[in-house]
Amino acid sequence: MDNAATTKITEKSLEKFVFSNKNHYGNSSSLHSYGYVCEKILKESRRIIGDFIKASQEEVFFTSGGTESNNIAIFGSIKEYDGSEVIYSDIDHPSIIGPVNELRKKGVVTIPVNTDNYGYIDIDDLEGKLSSKTTLCIFTHVNSELGTLQDMKKICNIIKNNNSNIRIHFDCVQSFGKINIDVSQCKVDTLSFSGHKIHGPKGIGGIYVRKGIKVKPIVFGGGQEKGLRPGTEPLPLIESFAEAILLRVEIMEHEYERILSLRNKLITGLKNSIEDIRINSAEKYSPYILNVSIKDIKGEVLLHYLERDEIFISTGSACSSKDESVDNVVSKLDSDKSYSDGTVRMSFGMYNDEAENNIVLEKVTGYVNEIREIIRGR
Ligand SMILES: Cc1ncc(COP(=O)(O)O)c(C=O)c1O
Repeated sequence: MDNAATTKITEKSLEKFVFSNKNHYGNSSSLHSYGYVCEKILKESRRIIGDFIKASQEEVFFTSGGTESNNIAIFGSIKEYDGSEVIYSDIDHPSIIGPVNELRKKGVVTIPVNTDNYGYIDIDDLEGKLSSKTTLCIFTHVNSELGTLQDMKKICNIIKNNNSNIRIHFDCVQSFGKINIDVSQCKVDTLSFSGHKIHGPKGIGGIYVRKGIKVKPIVFGGGQEKGLRPGTEPLPLIESFAEAILLRVEIMEHEYERILSLRNKLITGLKNSIEDIRINSAEKYSPYILNVSIKDIKGEVLLHYLERDEIFISTGSACSSKDESVDNVVSKLDSDKSYSDGTVRMSFGMYNDEAENNIVLEKVTGYVNEIREIIRGR
């Protein structure tokens, strides 16, 4: 139940990875015929990804994952550090907040946009903060802790109607492969995605860059990925990732409904069996992420109780869990510590089912009672 952190690779993707390592280990930049074979496969994988988000294959670039893609989109989009303004949301993933903090040190004015208690961007606040100096707006399609789903199309329209030169980047790591993304219907300039969140391999992801948009590289070397991300392309990872996407093409809609049903049943069960529980999501959310705050418990204690039964959940983003200076998103949005301290995230993937859901419900309920007895008895 921690699939927002990462997912188990499917057998087919794993097999493809092994097969490709054995059979397609050539360098797709080599001039000989074996290099050409590998280049063709690389192209085909790029096409699969492009088709999936209604982009052309020329607009798809491979990277090592979401973190690198976000860094490329952010640093690669800023022309002048001094005086330019960047608008972002401070409840976003560390792979956004980290680069934004670095931009600030270099003289960029970084402006957080207000959000409501569920993490939705305050559109009026955004409009008020756009100025002639705004060069880049950075948002996240699905928040990794809350599951909040932003209206990407609407946000892009508002920004572009204000000034079509403002660059827009969306982090789509938690939505790609789970919620439909159609770049032909939306004015986003760049977006990031990752393989390991959709039962693909770790260490591979990509960035979509709309045709005509210039993004500067952040590492320099050869001409691979048109110089945007130099380095020999890891064809086995790429092929394995493309295999994972082919599966999402097949099952995405059905999985959405199945996961939604699991999530709704879990919410009903939790509400019926635990008093004083808050569901931290509003009307538009990704069903893959369920964030709850339970009064008078500690989220981390519940996490460790559950791991004894091999139930793995989280208290927030895995990428910030080792940084004690970073609070979970709920504690930034909700000042009531008796709830926010008891925040946990449960996130679904294709291997979760109803039987597991029932065990999670039973165990969570039991452990919450135990923890509360200790905490309230103090
Ligand atoms: C919203 C979001 N952005 C970016 C990332 C980073 O992706 P990766 O692990 O592929 O670097 C994550 C991973 O947790 C995420 O949830």
